[in-house]
Amino acid sequence: MGITFYKKNRLFTLETEHTSYQMMVDGHDRLLHLYYGPLLKGSAEFLVTYQDRGFSANPYDAGEDRTYSLDALPQEYPTTGTGDFRSPALTVVDDRGVMGCDLKYKEHKILSGKYALAGLPAVYDENGASGSSSLVITLEDPNVGIEVDLYYGVLPQKDVITRSAVIRNVSAETVTVEKALSANLDFVTGDFDLITFYGRHGMERNFDRQPLTHREIRVGSRRGASSHQYHPLAILAEHETTETAGGCYGLSFVYSGGFVCSTEKDQYDQVRFQMGLAEYGLSYPLRQGEELIAPEVMMSYSCTGLRQLSWNLSDTVRDHVIRGPWQHKIRPVLLNSWEAFYMDFNGEKLRGLADEAKDLGMDMLVLDDGWFGHRDDDSSSLGDWTVWEEKLGGPLRELVDYVHQKGLLFGLWFEPEMISEDSDLYREHPDYALEIPGRKPVRGRYQLVLDFSRKEVVDTVYEQICKVIRENAVDYVKWDYNRSIIDIFSSGSSCQGKVLYDYILGLYDFLERLHQDFPELLIEGCSGGGGRFDAGMLYYTPQIWCSDNTDAMDRLKIQYGTSFGYPAMSMGAHVSVSPNEQCGREVSLKTRSLVAMAGTYGYELDPGRMDEEEKAQVRLEVAHQKALAPLILNGRYYRLSDPFTAPVTAWGFVSDDREEALFAAVVMDVHCNMPTNYVRFAGLTPHAFYRNEEDGKVYAADALMAVGMPLPFQTGTYKGYEWHLRRCEE
Ligand code: GLA
Repeated sequence: MGITFYKKNRLFTLETEHTSYQMMVDGHDRLLHLYYGPLLKGSAEFLVTYQDRGFSANPYDAGEDRTYSLDALPQEYPTTGTGDFRSPALTVVDDRGVMGCDLKYKEHKILSGKYALAGLPAVYDENGASGSSSLVITLEDPNVGIEVDLYYGVLPQKDVITRSAVIRNVSAETVTVEKALSANLDFVTGDFDLITFYGRHGMERNFDRQPLTHREIRVGSRRGASSHQYHPLAILAEHETTETAGGCYGLSFVYSGGFVCSTEKDQYDQVRFQMGLAEYGLSYPLRQGEELIAPEVMMSYSCTGLRQLSWNLSDTVRDHVIRGPWQHKIRPVLLNSWEAFYMDFNGEKLRGLADEAKDLGMDMLVLDDGWFGHRDDDSSSLGDWTVWEEKLGGPLRELVDYVHQKGLLFGLWFEPEMISEDSDLYREHPDYALEIPGRKPVRGRYQLVLDFSRKEVVDTVYEQICKVIRENAVDYVKWDYNRSIIDIFSSGSSCQGKVLYDYILGLYDFLERLHQDFPELLIEGCSGGGGRFDAGMLYYTPQIWCSDNTDAMDRLKIQYGTSFGYPAMSMGAHVSVSPNEQCGREVSLKTRSLVAMAGTYGYELDPGRMDEEEKAQVRLEVAHQKALAPLILNGRYYRLSDPFTAPVTAWGFVSDDREEALFAAVVMDVHCNMPTNYVRFAGLTPHAFYRNEEDGKVYAADALMAVGMPLPFQTGTYKGYEWHLRRCEE
């Protein structure tokens, strides 16, 4: 396992427990991709074919050999300007405006442990404890004066290989990077489906599976954030691939800004699969010696279907992306003030909410938007992180002390990257906002985006926010981000093509400082719900609010889509009122709680409006969640049906030793005289028996997994069921 270089044929093999990845420096010193798939012994060099193909040109160094064309050969890091007309991974422009480069092998090094990327989030493996290793292959084009370090990190136990690239100008003149992707996978053959996760505000990460045909398909974000609309996780699956069988490749971008993911089935039925920085807005000049780091992509292959692929990616996120003391800790059950009061609160109401949270057995009160500046609606005060004491009826610290004295944690909402025109910060420093001189800005939720590509802007906001956290002993921060970037102009930059990328570096710099200065602080990411739910943010924020949509039925779909790349304990999920405030749907408390239990659990309502019976049920639900939290945190997650098509949505968590399991199901639709719905469990020990903790009934695992658990006939919509199973004797 690990990384091997075979000198004789200049072959690189990257091996994980179940997968191999191969590439080769060819006779012309170009780096060809040979293979990615199930573990392979020997060389895959024979897979590459050479033919004289019309309109597929040959580089000059191929001489008489018309069978050598980069238009057809599988490559590791294809560039513009070599005769390869498929989508390039790299486009550079020299100081004459000439586009392209031709990269050839220069050298390589193999390192133990997993590489890190300066200023960017990346998969980590502290002290190489998980047996990781890294490979850096340097390619060069001396004519253009450019060098590229291709980074590969191998996590053998997770079946994950990471990729990144560093583009360096070694010439005396400026070279501008117009495109720099992080991963390129060329397949010489294959019939694939592309799985992507599209969405919108309030309905993120819908599962979408389409066969690849002869065309380029691109999804991505030009919004300055990874976005609600498309998601930086994509899967190429063989046509026959299911949850439990078949080959599939996943790419997950460890980055929170704009991205592109592209697939292309070419003229020879070959497939190219790529992911990296969005080209939109990117025109990044490098002076002599300067570098641009293309952020990291996590890649994984599974030959046993989508379930295993999801585990590979989400286990890596859990164990090698999320950091800090909360990484493997059960997260506090919280009560958030947003859907309880929105911005209509005062100190007394908040104390009442804390009393209710305590009484219901919860762990934390979160004060959401509306506590700072003079913010009573969304038209003001972003950028002024000073406590509005008049509204709270006193200093924030008094409220926090009250909450702490109850034995609860205290959480606070911030939106650090934004500025309101009606704010002292804007009045003092209008240039801190991203705005184009001479044009009126495009507003989003009445707010503008702060120019985080400038250090002084980051420093100013950092100071303000730290002060509030420190002075008020804040335990948890909800970090929100509620609009897209449109006006790309930084008064601090001479080159506007750098702004979107440098902005994200500024964001990460802020978050890293917070991580270092407040190591115990739990941060929940948020962007109007899940508009910036990505592995990059999870490096700094161990959990992310999955969606502003708290309707349990929609949440089934959102959480299903999210589960393809991320662990349940990273998905913020709360119980809100019924009828739901966003769509009016009525769903029982049991079902709402069941659905929220498949993420970090909490409530987003005013218990003061509940009757005693409902409160008693909430108490039971909270206690129930706490009892099951270790299993949900550490167990294997199983998708048991597809909420987009199945009459019943079902899922489960099974402990690693298979001694304990929790299965849950929600009936999506009821009909007169229905057929019996069976929920097929998975992950149990074959031939073993399991007792349902609730009613003591014992079930044969084989029958549960081969046929399923029959659901009772019950009328009423969206009924939820759960089975907490423990292994037992017959
Ligand atoms: C966003 C968040 C919500 C809430 C509001 C506050 O929409 O997603 O959860 O915090 O902002 O303005």
